[in-house]
Amino acid sequence: MRGARSEDLGRIYEIEKLCFGKDAYDPSLLLLYLNLSPETFLVAEREGEVVGYVVGIVKRWGEGHVISLAVHPQHRRKGVATALMKELLKRFAGKGVRVARLEVRVSNEAAIRLYEKLNFRKVGVIKRYYPDGEDAYLMVARI
Ligand SMILES: CC(C)(COP(=O)(O)OP(=O)(O)OC[C@H]1O[C@@H](n2cnc3c(N)ncnc32)[C@H](O)[C@@H]1OP(=O)(O)O)[C@@H](O)C(=O)NCCC(=O)NCCS
Repeated sequence: MRGARSEDLGRIYEIEKLCFGKDAYDPSLLLLYLNLSPETFLVAEREGEVVGYVVGIVKRWGEGHVISLAVHPQHRRKGVATALMKELLKRFAGKGVRVARLEVRVSNEAAIRLYEKLNFRKVGVIKRYYPDGEDAYLMVARI
């Protein structure tokens, strides 16, 4: 686990596309997040290859926001996302964050289960949050 670097962005974008298809963040947005919050943009590496990443930002009012999390399909169910999220939450806490939030598709049972294991709780539904009209759960954790 380490902070992302600009040379990782090609591989990160590749994973992003595999995981989110046409909703993938484009490389310029990923670069913006990297420049904005390098300490909370993390990658997981296995044998020298990036296999997953998480992007978080700390809002001006002190809340941590998980922007994106994805693990390459060949490296799932090995605890990579859990490790990335735990490190992100630790870094949030180090910046004085007490509450973290995220949005997740209501159909994304894998991610919801993961977040619940990390003590995130559903606190609301955001109607038609995604471009295809699907709702999101708003999930929040105290850290
Ligand atoms: C969701 C995602 C990040 C999980 O990554 P991962 O590295 O496989 O997750 P972990 O190995 O840390 O899993 C932790 C727990 O989450 C739950 N979980 C993860 N994937 C699951 C699945 N496919 N089905 C059911 N539960 C799942 C399990 O409870 C799992 O614990 P277990 O393996 O001991 O049963 C990954 O599937 C992914 O990248 N999906 C596509 C992108 C995405 O949906 N990102 C989240 C957007 S909000």
